[in-house]
Amino acid sequence: MSFTAFDKIPHDRLPALLRDMPKAELHLHIEGSLEPELIFALAQRNGVALPYASVEALRAAYAFTDLQSFLDIYYAGASVLLKEQDFFDMAWAYLQRAAADNVLHAEVFFDPQTHTARGVPVAAVIQGLEHACRRAHQELRISAKLILCFLRHLSEDEALATLDEALPHKHHFIGVGLDSSERGHPPEKFARVFAKARAAGLHVVAHAGEEGPPQYIRSALDVLKVERIDHGVRSAEDPLLVQRLVKEGVPLTVCPLSNVKLCVFKTMAEHNLPALLAAGLKATINSDDPAYFGGYVNQNFVETFAALPQLGAREAYTLARNSFEASFADAGAKSHWIKQLDLAFEEAARVG
Ligand code: HPA
Ligand code: ZN
Repeated sequence: MSFTAFDKIPHDRLPALLRDMPKAELHLHIEGSLEPELIFALAQRNGVALPYASVEALRAAYAFTDLQSFLDIYYAGASVLLKEQDFFDMAWAYLQRAAADNVLHAEVFFDPQTHTARGVPVAAVIQGLEHACRRAHQELRISAKLILCFLRHLSEDEALATLDEALPHKHHFIGVGLDSSERGHPPEKFARVFAKARAAGLHVVAHAGEEGPPQYIRSALDVLKVERIDHGVRSAEDPLLVQRLVKEGVPLTVCPLSNVKLCVFKTMAEHNLPALLAAGLKATINSDDPAYFGGYVNQNFVETFAALPQLGAREAYTLARNSFEASFADAGAKSHWIKQLDLAFEEAARVG
């Protein structure tokens, strides 16, 4: 079964439906969920000095011109994370917010190299995050899985050393990804480490086509053999690539507020999500770094739909359904969540 009566849902019901509908979040950097208040609380707890006088001064610095201008502040914010408890507190705060947005399943990125470079043991990072995921499953009924990301501005040897350190904890994460500064760091640089991760039975994803060219999306697919592309919005510049992504059903984890804050698109009204969906791409909506970019996943849905009149109930359903289908959950869980999605839309159509 799958919902089809989109024209029975009035347009003014859409914001509430976007918030209430069940969804999965597949592109979320846990370090990007650190709110300024928690950064200051952890700085005080751990005796870490911050180059900002107050929460307000830190927030005022969140005026980004491109990816790198954001990453500089994002890594400074993450410097307050030292103990297992800090990682738990950060992830628990995110998972409570995600549950409130009716996220049923989250695949959460973490950047171990940001922390191991400061002497934090990888075990403290993974155990703190995993404990929050376990508790969230029990208490919030949200399924949460971890994806370890390599920092692409560092070398492949450093990524390989990170993977080797993390593999003893493999039962606590489901895959690997690739993030940080995209331009000048093509996927090819990480061919060996991705091959090793695949051989270990891990899922593989990579950021590509956020600021980098469509060619980076091709090499993420061909060289790294990724199962999803994170961002991927620049695929639209290459019609043959779009055809291939549609044919192979490769999901794109699009992050609209992030794209506007990092000047990938000048305004939300210029975002190409409607074109990506119209082309038949399996796009999803995600928050990326919600503490820095102006909101969590529901804020992304509501602002995107408010700015783009081409998006209606049909696209809302497609995006939520794509989020479940593109997840790494098992087939039983996916069909259970899609049934819940159908019920939410049937109810919205019935109420009218
Ligand atoms: N792009 C690349 N690296 C990142 C991002 C992003 O949007 N967020 C956190 N690390
Ligand atoms: Zn990202």
